[in-house]
Amino acid sequence: MKEVSTARTSTGFKELNRVLGGGLVEGSFVLLGGDPGIGKSTLLLQMAGGLAKEDRTVLYVSGEESVNQSALRAQRLGVNSGKVHMAAESNLEVIRELAHEIKPDVMIVDSIQTVFLPEIASAPGSVSQVRECAAQLMGLAKGNGVTVFLIGHVTKEGNIAGPKVLEHMVDTVLSFEGDQSHQFRLLRALKNRFGATHELGVFQMDTRGLQEVDNPSELFLEERGERLIGSAVFCSVEGTRPLLCEIQALTNFTPMPQPRRTSLGFDVNRVHLLVAVLNKHLGLRLANADVFINVVGGLRLIEPAADLAVAAALLSTETEREIEAKTCFFGEIGLTGEVRAVSMVEGRLREAQKLGFTTFVIPASNRKHLNDLDAETKKKIFWVKDVHDLTKLFGTDGRRVKGKTAAAAASREAKVAEQERQKAAAHSGRQAGASRPGVDTDDLGF
Ligand code: TYD
Ligand code: MG
Repeated sequence: MKEVSTARTSTGFKELNRVLGGGLVEGSFVLLGGDPGIGKSTLLLQMAGGLAKEDRTVLYVSGEESVNQSALRAQRLGVNSGKVHMAAESNLEVIRELAHEIKPDVMIVDSIQTVFLPEIASAPGSVSQVRECAAQLMGLAKGNGVTVFLIGHVTKEGNIAGPKVLEHMVDTVLSFEGDQSHQFRLLRALKNRFGATHELGVFQMDTRGLQEVDNPSELFLEERGERLIGSAVFCSVEGTRPLLCEIQALTNFTPMPQPRRTSLGFDVNRVHLLVAVLNKHLGLRLANADVFINVVGGLRLIEPAADLAVAAALLSTETEREIEAKTCFFGEIGLTGEVRAVSMVEGRLREAQKLGFTTFVIPASNRKHLNDLDAETKKKIFWVKDVHDLTKLFGTDGRRVKGKTAAAAASREAKVAEQERQKAAAHSGRQAGASRPGVDTDDLGF
């Protein structure tokens, strides 16, 4: 087979380059999905500015905003090169003519849900329109070597609106995520024919548009409080980059027969699994407790390596003991309570050390891969074989933890018993037609 070179162009954003696999590939077909208002138009407009600096001609076609609006935004973002052409158009035939006239290196279509082909009767955004328009734009990319970016809105369920076929057609699917209440924006490659997937780019939205975040770990730990009960730091690996984040856990008494398990940023099924493992192996009784897990900063973790930090945060909140602030965890927990090896340990250790972490709680089974580690770092490692070893962080041995968690569970059980007793008393009181003197129970809203 002949070797084909893929020339890459810098987009002006190091983060975007990395997510794309090292820059923009000529003639590639890229889909950028994300919630409305997350910053898709801003990102690609700023990218257009970056590409213009690399002497590339860009055509930005918006079916959502007028030329005036787009130009005003471009101006505000400092994109003012003559190499960036703006157009407000949604008729694909006109867009194709424009492309033939301007001959851009890169074309951005904002968004695929607004463009239409007049010969198709259905409305823009419908399955047949989206499919047909995307096919024509793919022709432009593959036939004329124009790199085409499509912006796609995401439906409530989190899928890019339009047929799944859109994702099959494109070379790369990027997803722009983030919490509207946070300034962070995370760019992820969900599919990439030209690079690794799950690579993560971190941006921050401010008045000058999107800024790259060079040290995201610092950012995610920035607001870490003083009171660290129920808080553990995890070092994840997103694509090729280690990233530190805080995991919080809270357990709270509930009289409900079905306690809640709520998890933000971490798979709730794994929370169920961890609660069961901690119950079976450490006697953590959470039957009368709601359990909340939160990954701070709107990050979504997919790695099971987060298990150890989640378990530590849960133990911390149940025993009401703080985890030492400069402790970092990673390790997967199995059903028999064993802590399993994870990948890229050295990278994770380095990232945590860079941010001043001094204790690393990591799987003992990773030990054999770490022979080359310097003695200084080795001293800071606390190896854990199973969840029992984890309890040593919360007391001199596992027994103290058991005592603490048992006390927490017992106090919840006592509350349930007390409520049962009160209910029974109220019931028998009502049946006897008696109410306490001077108190009308109806007024109390019982
Ligand atoms: P936008 O790129 O229009 O989002 P999308 O195309 O994904 O719908 O970004 C919209 C939000 O970004 C808007 O709420 C305002 C905010 N924003 C800033 O905070 N600073 C800026 O410089 C720009 C251009 C937008
Ligand atoms: Mg937009």
